Amino acid sequence: MNKEEKINHYKEILPQLASLADGEKDLIVKMANFCSLLQQEMGFFWTGFYRVGQHELLLGPFQGSLACTHIGYGKGVCGTVMKEGRTLIVPDVRRFPGHIACSSLTKSEIVVPIRNTEGELIAVLDIDSAELNTFDETDQFYLEQVADFLK
Ligand code: SME
Repeated sequence: MNKEEKINHYKEILPQLASLADGEKDLIVKMANFCSLLQQEMGFFWTGFYRVGQHELLLGPFQGSLACTHIGYGKGVCGTVMKEGRTLIVPDVRRFPGHIACSSLTKSEIVVPIRNTEGELIAVLDIDSAELNTFDETDQFYLEQVADFLK
């Protein structure tokens, strides 16, 4: 998918995500349909949420193959996002020290922090690709808007 196709795709699904979130207070309900829509429409390899627990992340709703269930604070890409509180784009997971390989097929990924209205980190959105260099600032721009729908 080239940059223009990617932008058009995000522009198409953003209103759908907004309407899925509209009036729905339950976070898990929203997360469940969000990862289904993102995975199906964007053609990602794995799309899911990890929820913030006691010094760790716990697996939440996802689409794709079986995943790691608990990720420690500061561990892997997701745990690093939990620690640093900012989006991380990993063009090649083999070059990310401490990357947690739930699937050997994952080659690149993006992880976006999810915050509540008080600004506290409540979860991360983890999206994996079976190809290298899948994610860039366009994905970050739109996926951070997706994160805002979960407030
Ligand atoms: N990619 C993650 C682990 C979770 S799975 O890929 C679903 C990481 O290194 O944080």
